[in-house]
Amino acid sequence: MTPDTAAIEHAARLLEQGKLVAFPTETVYGLGADASNPQAVAAIFTAKGRPSNHPVIVHVARDADLSRWTPQVPHEARALIDAFWPGPLTLILRRASQVPAAVAGGQDTLGLRCPAHPVAQALLRAFREGQGGLAAPSANRFGHVSPTTAQHVIDEFGAPGVGPLAAVLDGGHCEVGIESTIIDLSRLDTHGPVLLRPGQISAVQIADVIGRMPALPDHAAPRVSGSLDAHYAPSTPVALVDRAALAATMQQLLARGCRFALIAYSEDVSAVHGMHLPDHADGYAHGLYASLREMDARDADVILVERPPQDAAWQGINDRLRRAAFDSAGVLEKLLKG
Ligand code: TXA
Ligand code: MG
Repeated sequence: MTPDTAAIEHAARLLEQGKLVAFPTETVYGLGADASNPQAVAAIFTAKGRPSNHPVIVHVARDADLSRWTPQVPHEARALIDAFWPGPLTLILRRASQVPAAVAGGQDTLGLRCPAHPVAQALLRAFREGQGGLAAPSANRFGHVSPTTAQHVIDEFGAPGVGPLAAVLDGGHCEVGIESTIIDLSRLDTHGPVLLRPGQISAVQIADVIGRMPALPDHAAPRVSGSLDAHYAPSTPVALVDRAALAATMQQLLARGCRFALIAYSEDVSAVHGMHLPDHADGYAHGLYASLREMDARDADVILVERPPQDAAWQGINDRLRRAAFDSAGVLEKLLKG
């Protein structure tokens, strides 16, 4: 499963030549390009079909010299780096002037992350002798569900050499399963720390380290495509249903001859029409995107998702599910009337 040193070295050379390489991180697979090469970064946007004003995250090796990327690492950032890197936390900092503006979608800030996955770290060490940065959004087409296996990446872009990818490194199923927590520290003086995207590392864990709770994004916050209302969406409509209403909803759909696929987590909910995810947040997040893809492949009229618990540990999961369901508002009413 784990790519050998030769495969990682080869991938690093391809990246140095300006090619695109997909690689595993502990959150989701990334679509990587040399962050210092504007043409390579532009190829990411073309491959994803992503608007060019959306910034991408730059991934760096453990102990990388951050002064190449940002003119200033505030002490809050230093504390979070010490606590959580390598790991699923992205910091938005001011962008150093030599970093291509294309990486940042033209903004004067930059997203920086040091991933924990051993293959990602090995690749970052091999690439430009550990001193480079890999611009890497999630390796999916714009708005789609993020990939958590190498096969998901190939399902999105085609096999290496056939589509836009020069190589795909297979590091197995991503451990965390949802994208990194993003915290904006670029406007500390005026806005304080701002949580742009919830993830496995929670706002409370961040507050424990920096001594204050991050604020929720306001309208002046930098653009985060993962924070568009509709995102992370399968092509089948998605409906979140409270557990209490689930049995009746399924019965009504069956009575109408509608086809549904179910993602449940309560053991006493029957999953003959779908599947169960674990009833704890880490396990649920790990399996979430693969389950959305699997249920999407069933050609159902709707994917029913048993609404997960609403407490803090589930914040990242509820955020992704809300966005996956955003464009499907009213789908159940339509099916049940239709
Ligand atoms: O877990 C992750 O973060 C994964 C893996 C591959 O590292 N990457 C990921 O990238 O989710 P992407 O591009 O799909 O989402 C990154 C988010 C985007 O919503 C982008 O707008 C935001 O980070 N972002 C990047 N740089 C930013 C900046 N300078 N200011 C504000 N938001 C930024
Ligand atoms: Mg993404």
